[in-house]
Amino acid sequence: MTKQILILPGDGIGKEVTASAMKILNYLIEKYHLDFITIEREVGGASYELHGKPLTEETLEIAKQSDAILFGAVGGPQWDSLDWDVRPEQALLGLRKTLGLFANLRPAFLFNELASASPLKNHIIENLDILIVRELTGGVYFGEPRGLVEDVTPKYAFNTMVYNEDEIRRIARVAFEAAMTRGKKLCSVDKANVLEVSKFWRGIVAEMGLEYPEVMLSHQLADNTAMQLVLNPNQYDVIVSSNLFGDILSDIAATLSGSIGMLPSASLNSSGQGMYEPCHGSAPDIAGQGVANPLAMISSLAMALEYSLDRKDLAVKIELAIKNFIGLGHRTKDITTSEGFIKTNDVAPLLIKLLENE
Ligand code: IPM
Ligand code: MG
Repeated sequence: MTKQILILPGDGIGKEVTASAMKILNYLIEKYHLDFITIEREVGGASYELHGKPLTEETLEIAKQSDAILFGAVGGPQWDSLDWDVRPEQALLGLRKTLGLFANLRPAFLFNELASASPLKNHIIENLDILIVRELTGGVYFGEPRGLVEDVTPKYAFNTMVYNEDEIRRIARVAFEAAMTRGKKLCSVDKANVLEVSKFWRGIVAEMGLEYPEVMLSHQLADNTAMQLVLNPNQYDVIVSSNLFGDILSDIAATLSGSIGMLPSASLNSSGQGMYEPCHGSAPDIAGQGVANPLAMISSLAMALEYSLDRKDLAVKIELAIKNFIGLGHRTKDITTSEGFIKTNDVAPLLIKLLENE
């Protein structure tokens, strides 16, 4: 059956890194005669400029019918003052919510050759290999009621952090299952010392732990996890967390690995449909210079091949090519301290050479 892939490059370096991933995808389509079709649309600020909104109904409809979505990045200073509901980030939140992409997998791993690019000392960071499983369609990001009340003094604003037991169970299940295929360790992160919703979360995850006796389950407070990720990141295998805490912890974890420009992510729903995006954002400060590192986007394509496109074999090939690429000493600007580095557009052709030999 034909697989449909929606390409949403977005803004800033999103466009540049997506172009590189497309070179790899097109190469694979041709070489392996893949029955894939790709459709490209604007999203975020780019869509706002064309259509007056960051995500059009048409694009959302195509997204619903696609097996996988490759998402670059959205946002930029020129759209920072827009009304709330047309800001570029709303495209991302709208896609996540509408497609029910509740499970966000954010791996953080280190190629040991890049240890010197990490802000941490080499011995702390070597062999880093963590998976953060972040809940993505609930919690304080989407909780109701929410709002801003301006007709009283003092004015106030509020959000609601809410999880029901089903939402907790389904994300915990993804995390337990992931732990079973990895190091069989799961750390659930919450603020159970302060928040009812966290205490409830902890109880449900603990109860589910009984179904997975082989998984060593622990619970940690989010502030402590932030500290432990920096002190001793290798204590973790899989971390599961709510939308907000997962957002914060995954940025810390990504930074440990040397460059946020290296790390992919997948956001999945219960029918295997997924959106795949690099952990980094649109990086307006370096956009247009051709120096962005496209490896996170290319790794995200690998995750799409594995989780939504039934071609884990090709995902493995891409990952191996990236490993060899790093091993050969190829470096984009973000992962080198020396003057010499290769540019965004140099990466895909070098990877394709490596893929040819696999
Ligand atoms: C992320 C981002 C988004 C989030 C923003 C851009 C809405 O930080 O994917 O981590 O907070 O989820
Ligand atoms: Mg974030």
